[in-house]
Amino acid sequence: MKFQDLRAQLTPERKRHLITLVIGLAVSWTLASLMACATSLKTGGPTALYQQLGGVAGITQITDRTLDRVSTDPRTKRTFANVKMKALKESVATYVCKVADGPCVYEGETMRNSHADLGISGAEFDLMVEILRDEINQANAPTVAKNELLRRLAPTRRDIVKG
Ligand code: HEM
Repeated sequence: MKFQDLRAQLTPERKRHLITLVIGLAVSWTLASLMACATSLKTGGPTALYQQLGGVAGITQITDRTLDRVSTDPRTKRTFANVKMKALKESVATYVCKVADGPCVYEGETMRNSHADLGISGAEFDLMVEILRDEINQANAPTVAKNELLRRLAPTRRDIVKG
């Protein structure tokens, strides 16, 4: 039977049913994909957070640019005055890579110890997170990955903020 014949046989009611069915299938497929994506982010599946952030290269670009900005911004630069930025950049990139379930081995201090004497205020911490968010956007990482990384880093606030 030709497509034209098939169309001619469709009553308006059948057409409505068909359209509803197609829309229903499309919505179900989209929801299932979104759920699979969110689940694999948590379990480290094929769309793992680390990969979505661009691997070591993507993460290093994001953290390097964030540190370049916080260490020169008048609102946060005081803390970085005597810090060796090259070593700090390596350490922060490795830490974030590990937080994102990447293959990196972080051997630095805990967040509590490394920031203990710095007197970092809530405002300083929040600004760094805002800059980090902006740099993840600039790197074109998916929104779901950005939110997941920021969600994982959020608890460090209570260890880092002292001011
Ligand atoms: C999500 C937020 C943050 C994360 C994940 C983070 C991560 C790190 C890591 C991994 C280190 C290196 C520790 C080591 O190598 O032993 C470090 C050190 C440091 N962080 Fe943070 N940090 C955060 C927030 C901040 C903020 C808001 C500031 C200042 C405004 C800051 C300033 C510093 C400084 C100055 C050091 C070097 C301390 C030293 O060498 O004595 N950090 N941070």
